[in-house]
Order: sequence, then structure tokens, then C-alpha cells
Amino acid sequence: MKWNAELYDQKHAFVYQYGESLLELLDAKPGENILDLGCGTGHLTQRIQSLGAIVTGIDSSAEMIQQAEENFPEIKFSVANATNFYFEEPFDAIFSNAVLHWIKDQDSLIKTVYNNLKPGGRFVAEMGGRGNVGKMIAATQQVLLKYGYVDQAAIVMWYFPSLGEYTKRLEDQGFRVTFATHYDRKTPLQDGDKGVAKWIAMFGDEYMKGVPEAEKQQLLKEITDLLEPQYNENGQWYADYKRLKFIAIKE
Ligand code: BEZ
Repeated sequence: MKWNAELYDQKHAFVYQYGESLLELLDAKPGENILDLGCGTGHLTQRIQSLGAIVTGIDSSAEMIQQAEENFPEIKFSVANATNFYFEEPFDAIFSNAVLHWIKDQDSLIKTVYNNLKPGGRFVAEMGGRGNVGKMIAATQQVLLKYGYVDQAAIVMWYFPSLGEYTKRLEDQGFRVTFATHYDRKTPLQDGDKGVAKWIAMFGDEYMKGVPEAEKQQLLKEITDLLEPQYNENGQWYADYKRLKFIAIKE
């Protein structure tokens, strides 16, 4: 996935703005050594630093890291893969907001996080849970199939587990899960009836791979029309986000 870091910063600020409540769960203490896994453009990394922690941000996207370094030159950022990173000094906490559902190899991810924590360290994260943007995905698949794009309709872009499934994965790798919740968080889309098309362009463009530009506009219009009764509340559009949030301790 290639990210447009500038567009992300301008138009999808909600991703890190919602991360504020995760910061409360992280409860960073001054002097703690904390990793922000999938830090994007660095806004939450900076918030963690402002709480007095010593923070490092990593992301697999060089574009995001470049933007993060421009935004916050005083913070350490580096390009790294979530499934196999290594730091000499283990962390007191590893934090991750709205990233884990992009990662295919979840067992390597959880093992890598575990190995990079101190004993007693915590993994505090939020991700899409089962059913996340389910209406968006169903409408996209329905329209792709109508136009004969069978392969695109079959693409599985994200991993949205149930609470039971994910906490078991964490426990199987040695974590003790002390808190976990799966909840609805309807999320505003920007730009009214253009919001669905913009969301798909930013996050789900893979679905439109191989669809000619003119036809793509027609597909996006039909997806938007299908979603309107469920997404449009008096002119403000909302996507059907469902979140999973947890604290897992390395004992
Ligand atoms: C999410 O944060 O839930 C999400 C973001 C982009 C694509 C899919 C899900």
C-alpha cells in the first residue's frame, strides 16, 4: 500500500484524533520508553512525548516517516516492518492506533511486539474489529460484481477479528489480556456525498485496480448511492466503524 502522507494529514486527521482516547488507556508515565507502532505522520507520537515519555515512532511507509520527521524533527522515527523489527533496548509499552488490521502475518506481529517489550511491559492498541466498515465493504463488493470485477470483489484487504479471536492470539503468544472491548464508533466522513469515494481512494483503492477511470467514477457513485440511506444523517455522512481496543501485558 502506497500512502499519500500529505493527503492523509489533511483529510484523515480523524484517524489520529480518535487515537486520543487510546492515549488515556496507554497512561504513559514520564521517563517511560514507548514505541508508537505504525506512527503514520507522527501526531500521536508527539502527544506521547508531550506526556514526558521517551518515544520512538516506526512505520512501514517511507512517505509517512518523511512527513513525520518534517512535522516533529525532535522525535526519533524510522522505517520498519511491524512483523520483524528489533530494538536493543526493550520498551515499557508498545502503542498502536488503527494499524494492526493492515498486517497479514498477525502471529509474527504479536511475537515481535512481545520480544520488544520488557517483562511487565504493555501492548496497548486499537484496530478494526469484526464487522468494521462492513456496510462499505458489502456495497463495494456488490457494485464490483455487478460490473463483472469478480477478482477485485474477492480481495480481502483487512483483518478485522472478533474480540475472542484476537485475545486468544495474544494469549497464545504469552500475553495476559487485562482489558479488551469491541464497540461501535460511527466515524464522520468529510466532504458530504463525496466522502465515500474519498475514503475508498485513500484506504481501499486496491478494490478499483484495473477499473478504467471513467467506469470507476460510475462505480463509486453507485457505491455511494447504496450507502446513502445508512450513512447520510441530515447531510453528515458516517462510516460504520467497529473498534477493538485492548491492553495486553508481557508477564
Ligand atoms: C480503520 O481504521 O478501521 C480502517 C482504516 C482504513 C481502512 C480500513 C479500516
